[in-house]
Amino acid sequence: MKHNLKTVASPSSDWTPDTWRSRTALQQPTYEDAGELDSALAQLGALPPLVTSWEILKLKQAIAEAQLGERFVLQGGDCAESFADCTSPIISNRLKVLLQMSLVLVHGLKKPVLRVGRFAGQYAKPRSADTETRDGVTLPAFRGDLVNSPEFTPAARRADPSRLIKAHARSAMTMNFVRALIDGGFADLHHPEYWDLAWVDHSPLAAEYKRMVASIGDSLRFMETLGGESISYSRVDFYTSHEALLLHYEEALTRQVPRQDGWFNLSTHFPWIGMRTAALDGAHTEYFRGIRNPIAVKVGPTVEPDDLIRLIDVLNPDEEPGRLTLIHRMGNDKIATRLRPLLEAVKREGRRVLWVADPMHGNTESTSNGYKTRRFTNVAGELDQAFDIHAAVGTRLGGVHLELTGENVTECLGGARGLVEQDLDRAYKSMVDPRLNYEQSLELAMLITRKSAGMR
Ligand code: PEP
Ligand code: CO
Repeated sequence: MKHNLKTVASPSSDWTPDTWRSRTALQQPTYEDAGELDSALAQLGALPPLVTSWEILKLKQAIAEAQLGERFVLQGGDCAESFADCTSPIISNRLKVLLQMSLVLVHGLKKPVLRVGRFAGQYAKPRSADTETRDGVTLPAFRGDLVNSPEFTPAARRADPSRLIKAHARSAMTMNFVRALIDGGFADLHHPEYWDLAWVDHSPLAAEYKRMVASIGDSLRFMETLGGESISYSRVDFYTSHEALLLHYEEALTRQVPRQDGWFNLSTHFPWIGMRTAALDGAHTEYFRGIRNPIAVKVGPTVEPDDLIRLIDVLNPDEEPGRLTLIHRMGNDKIATRLRPLLEAVKREGRRVLWVADPMHGNTESTSNGYKTRRFTNVAGELDQAFDIHAAVGTRLGGVHLELTGENVTECLGGARGLVEQDLDRAYKSMVDPRLNYEQSLELAMLITRKSAGMR
């Protein structure tokens, strides 16, 4: 059967943006005052969207191309954005490191890279417990700035509906700044110096990076000489994504638009379902099945092949190209046994998905001095194995999903500079999970290109 993105039908008539409410919704905050919540949701529902349906459909088409191996997806950003980090340097540095990584990947993989930020809405976090107890005092857990505040006081931990409106505003400011930078030529390949970060001058990786930049400049000038005109890259595409965890927020931004069938989540281009909320009969699966966005699901080491196929049936019953991405996050010690049966089942059943690797979330550990961290060797090791396992099964690893920052933080151990446990004290800033710093991020991009070159 031939599929056309434009004509894929709207969801079945038993779906509306609020049908998730009749299912079990995990990881939702408890709001004390239903009236206060409803009034915030009514305000949110009247505010303009953050993205448009045609951007969403363009991304779906690009993901369909990635499914065919024509593009590689680079998805990355903070574990959790914070309202305080909605600043010019933090946003532009994150963009810089993603652009630098994509440059390395384009150069090494010789194919277009689809850039997807984990930003402009990544404000809600799943937690392992609903409450937190310190010195005999129990308060609600911190669930991200969309819900409450991290300080350990009753006022800070109260689920505050006005944060829904603030998160929308911060997301819009982030989007606006990213769009303006990109439209203004910040991402122009003629000017990679625009996105230089201070590290380029003193990093062990600087020489390799500079060689790539010079070689891309040479190819660009060669192409321009051949074609007789300047190649404009000023409109590099950049898409947004976040974990669509807080379903009240997502529902309020789920809209119908003129001349399109169905419903779009207009808070982001590419929402994903987190590992903890991906139950087949859960509220998140119910919500996601009805929106027309390209969507992703995190797949952890406990998922069985049959369950995964059933989830695919619900989320992409029409086998629509570009619709479904599966992000596996197994851990360096589990990927060798847990991934292969899933890949084989999806291949055997002939399902169309994009496989992306998240080598971060299965590799979180605590140090003896109390930090949540990840070892670069485990992150790189999981990714390395992912390429090999896909190759052995005959499936394709089409992208990576990373937690990273453009700041010089010390949250993950190892990398070219060999960060050790004592370094974590120096610049550990993450509110939730440890992120790769700019140098570790670039190093990973270089490893990906070396791995792919070795496999060609
Ligand atoms: C995350 O991406 O920050 C996250 C919580 O991931 P997962 O759902 O895979 O645990
Ligand atoms: Co995380």
